[in-house]
Amino acid sequence: MRSFLPSLALASAAGLLAFAVVATAQKDAEPTVPSWRVPKGDVARGAGRAQVCLTCHGVNGAPSDPPAPKLRRQRTSYIFKALQEYRSGERKSDIMQPFAQELSDQDMRDLAVYLSGELLDVPPKAHSELPIYRRIARECAWCHGETGIGEFEGMPVLTGQDPTYIAHALSAYRDGARTSPIMRSVVKDLPAQEDAALADYYSRHEWLERNK
Ligand code: HEC
Ligand code: HEC
Repeated sequence: MRSFLPSLALASAAGLLAFAVVATAQKDAEPTVPSWRVPKGDVARGAGRAQVCLTCHGVNGAPSDPPAPKLRRQRTSYIFKALQEYRSGERKSDIMQPFAQELSDQDMRDLAVYLSGELLDVPPKAHSELPIYRRIARECAWCHGETGIGEFEGMPVLTGQDPTYIAHALSAYRDGARTSPIMRSVVKDLPAQEDAALADYYSRHEWLERNK
């Protein structure tokens, strides 16, 4: 484990730099990805469209393998980005790609604002007493924040996420099914046997929920 932390620090620094470079470049160049913000998403339209989504992502959703991730209080910009990536095929999922192919950019904005819902007033307190926090999760906090809420636009919230889904996401970066260069470089040095403890760590904090 001794060799893990320095290399994650390096990956984090490179990742953050890439984040900053992309953010600066996007200010000058024409946007290559449609904005999630403009035109504004319509919550009522999103609610109408979301009925099919809630058969899996809702409180009474059918179980699936992997489990459908929780989306209530997920960051709106990240939901929009994930749907764009399923539609283009950059992010692979036999379950999600067909649904995303039916959606326009505006449908995605509407769904993202509806599904993300209202934020809680008080963020949870980090379980920093857990060994996995000191061993690894405090390094992930550079990008994801201490409990997984994170601060960046387009950054997924991990706080309170389904643990089986978190572990599935980490292995998808490891085997290349998900292509994010930042997370690919993070998992390169992350032993797979730590996935379960990390998934348990983030899922313990209350924030994300299944949609009503
Ligand atoms: C049949 C069940 C099912 C239905 C219906 C469904 N999803 Fe999903 N959804 C999943 C599963 C399973 C995943 C995880 C896929 C993966 O590994 O990338 C997922 C992933 C997602 C993600 C990525 C979340 C993250 O944390 O990365 C978003 C966003 C999403 N779904 C939105 C929707 C929307 C919007 C709809 C309706 C148009 C919908 N889903 C319909 C099962 C479903
Ligand atoms: C340099 C910044 C950075 C660091 C450090 C980092 N991440 Fe990430 N993480 C991201 C970004 C950006 C994404 C979104 C990538 C994408 O769209 O697939 C992400 C996505 C994820 C996801 C997928 C969430 C979902 O809803 O599908 C998980 C799980 C995750 N990270 C866990 C971790 C863990 C555990 C660590 C520490 C070992 C870590 N990350 C370190 C930036 C980072």
